[in-house]
Amino acid sequence: MGRVLVTHPLPEGATDLLAAAGHELVEPDGRSLVEWAPEVDGILCLLTDPIDAAVLRSGAAGRLRVVSLAAVGHDNVDLAAAAALGITVCNTPGVLDESTADLAFLLVLAANRLASDAERDLRSGKWEGWGIMDHLGQDVWGTTLGLVGYGRIGRAVARRAAGFGMEVLHHTRTDTGLPGYLPTLHELLARSDTVSLHVPLTPETHHLIGEAELALMKPTAVLVNTARGAVVDEGALARALERGELHAAGLDVYSREPDVDPAILSAPRTVLLPHIGSATVRTRGAMARLAAEAVGDVLAGRVPAHTVTA
Ligand code: DGY
Repeated sequence: MGRVLVTHPLPEGATDLLAAAGHELVEPDGRSLVEWAPEVDGILCLLTDPIDAAVLRSGAAGRLRVVSLAAVGHDNVDLAAAAALGITVCNTPGVLDESTADLAFLLVLAANRLASDAERDLRSGKWEGWGIMDHLGQDVWGTTLGLVGYGRIGRAVARRAAGFGMEVLHHTRTDTGLPGYLPTLHELLARSDTVSLHVPLTPETHHLIGEAELALMKPTAVLVNTARGAVVDEGALARALERGELHAAGLDVYSREPDVDPAILSAPRTVLLPHIGSATVRTRGAMARLAAEAVGDVLAGRVPAHTVTA
């Protein structure tokens, strides 16, 4: 049986199957991941754990066979190093699509309607009663939504948009052959009223939305990011909001979490959430269970449901 480092407390019952299979579960004790890695067969971790080449090399020098993330995004893992060292990396796609799409759509609505500004005014006592010119946001229904990335989460957002009578466009690197596909990001940015990002963070998508891309968007457009912070050049976004070149932004992710760029914090017309896209009791439980199952599978010599390769 194996020894598994569980880097953070997980939803109740998530690791029961590992314990039932006879694996020893260990918790962090102040030592670093580099120190722990060679002493365990598996690491069950979160997107906040940096699983870099040093951790993986250290693990490979010992007995580490699997790193399983309770997350779909895997930009915190050096996949090339894992592949070279023969360490399996697993993630949890599928179980968080609907919750994350709900949150993305929440941001589509909240940012267009300037909900955070309105709530701030109410809480700070600035609200003087119903005013015909007050807190004027933009309609969402009947407008055009542009999805950058059209995987499971992007498509789940598209389903929600259909209920709002929206035209839905999407752009991906390869032609989906589906209605609404646009071959260029530039066209999608220029045509959309709201742009929502659903791509993984890779060297290719780092700062995919920068100054030039923001300039292509309508001055009335809204940008929503529930993917990864570094997909957007946050400085450029803050400047565009300050200059009134965009209507608003709804963000759930940031490039240096938990630090948020002060320029973003002070930018006008923003709805800012602390990376809670998948944060429902049901979904987080499912993510943790799936990640634990994957560890059990690898240690038992079975093929896990989801592996990530370099
Ligand atoms: C993920 O799994 O990558 C999400 O960002 C977690 O909400």
